[in-house]
Amino acid sequence: MADLDRLGVPPDRSLAEVFGGRSGRSPALSEPGHRAHHVPEHPAWWQREVIYQIYPRSFFDASGDGIGDLPGIREKADYLAWLGIGAVWLSPIYPTPDADLGYDISDYRSVDPRFGSLEEFDSMLAALHARGIRLILDLVPNHTSDRHPWFVESRQGPRSPRHEWYVWRQPRPDGSPPNNWESYFGGQAWTYLDPPGAWYLHSFHRGQPDLNWENPDVREAIREVMRFWLERGVDGFRVDVLWLLGKDPELRDNPVNPDWEEGDPSWLHFLRTNSEDGPKAHEYARSLRSVIDEYPDRVMIGEVVLPPARAVAYHGERLDEAHLPHNFAMAELRDWSADEVRSTVEGYEGLLPPGAWPNWLLGDHDFSRIASRVGHARTRLAHMLLLTLRGTPTWYYGDELGLPNGTFTGAAVTSIDPQASTAPERDRLVARTPMQWSPGLHARFSEADPWLPLAADDPDLTVERQLGDPDSVLNVVRALIHLRRRTPALSIGTYRSLPAPPGVFSFEREHADGAVQIHLNFDDAAREVGLPGRSRTLLSTIGPATEASSTHVVLAPHQGIVVGEAVLG
Ligand code: NOJ
Repeated sequence: MADLDRLGVPPDRSLAEVFGGRSGRSPALSEPGHRAHHVPEHPAWWQREVIYQIYPRSFFDASGDGIGDLPGIREKADYLAWLGIGAVWLSPIYPTPDADLGYDISDYRSVDPRFGSLEEFDSMLAALHARGIRLILDLVPNHTSDRHPWFVESRQGPRSPRHEWYVWRQPRPDGSPPNNWESYFGGQAWTYLDPPGAWYLHSFHRGQPDLNWENPDVREAIREVMRFWLERGVDGFRVDVLWLLGKDPELRDNPVNPDWEEGDPSWLHFLRTNSEDGPKAHEYARSLRSVIDEYPDRVMIGEVVLPPARAVAYHGERLDEAHLPHNFAMAELRDWSADEVRSTVEGYEGLLPPGAWPNWLLGDHDFSRIASRVGHARTRLAHMLLLTLRGTPTWYYGDELGLPNGTFTGAAVTSIDPQASTAPERDRLVARTPMQWSPGLHARFSEADPWLPLAADDPDLTVERQLGDPDSVLNVVRALIHLRRRTPALSIGTYRSLPAPPGVFSFEREHADGAVQIHLNFDDAAREVGLPGRSRTLLSTIGPATEASSTHVVLAPHQGIVVGEAVLG
């Protein structure tokens, strides 16, 4: 049973039910055996590699102030190379007053002193590149901090050259805010300021005013920010709330959600029809992508939290928007049964536009930890699933140890995370706890008290301990990443579902160099699955599968295996 996700959708209702649109349960690929993909002839690095998300303040603290930093990431570059990941996505590292832990940026072209300096950024980037690891930065184009000089100028009033860089409006005749839009963090999305005697829009915290994307100067300013970092050598961006850039230019009210019921979160009372995912969002996505395309071999990832049918539209009609609009289907899955997982995979595969490359993630810094969502027994299955599906996997730091959610007292959290104060059930800090490196004080994340307590002060949940145990989650994940890397069927091959006994999800990945099959037993009981002739187990989540005959194996409860004719490549 999953925790509430970042959207706070009530547990008994699907995202699509709540937001309208189509659910991800497309029948298109529901017949086992259906296959509809091409194998990229010249796959890009972002198709072949695993992307690893680092929440910078929680990875490794080299400066000894309790907050992770860029020199800390540089120090751990060998660990990342050993793990076998191909790119790091770094959550924001820019100067910030922390109204939303870095997603409120006061300077797009610098590094927050708590994380380091531009020189230390360059040195971290060089260390990653030297090991063949790419770097993807978070780009936050929808809003700045209210302390950003652009906003400070803008709030001077209409005579300021930057006044129109943000969304200012007069109240309605009755003095209420300009429209009924609500902030994602709860309450109205408008705050009144005098001067200039007007309301400004903020889709999130009031310390995060929305930029006015209707204004071409704003768009060009963000494109220049991208060039600044691309020139410095970064390999791409993950674009924050990409689907929010296009709002109704007339700022009309959002319609009431007809499915809203007494007891549902108040912020779901309105459908977000006019406040997001408008037609211009695609034009704006294309304008960001065109900057990416000015440089060779870079990637654009888009955060798009929408029902899958609308999210995949952010690949672009001509595949000219995000290379990878993040696919949250698995992160939002509440029922981790074989049937649900299979239909989630088939539904998403069925919705992808021709030629679009899929991607998967199990969570990020806004979700609870996968180990806590699916439970200890199924964690390895989830890992094997993510690393064997067709499409780029995005890994969340610490999941390779099986880290659980942190547990904190309410007061500590609400003072740090704006979302927690309005919707404590959507507490996002649980998955942002320090990485656990070695047994000892603060799991050797820092010599000082860490900014957040450890998720679990358990020596077995550290890199050092798990390195020494061949059956640890860490070693299984690493083996999966390396198997994926050297097996073309796993990294770029086609996908098709296979018939399987109840409780088991089986699929095949195929490539001219050879095919592999993946069998995942989500059941609490042992299950027997058939194997193709002359196959052998390449990898198992928990010890070897029991041979039933030359053509069948018995999977233990919650066991997953990858089988193939040989290790390829
Ligand atoms: C999405 C980010 O993932 C989340 O952490 C943040 O609060 C909002 N965007 C606002 O930037």
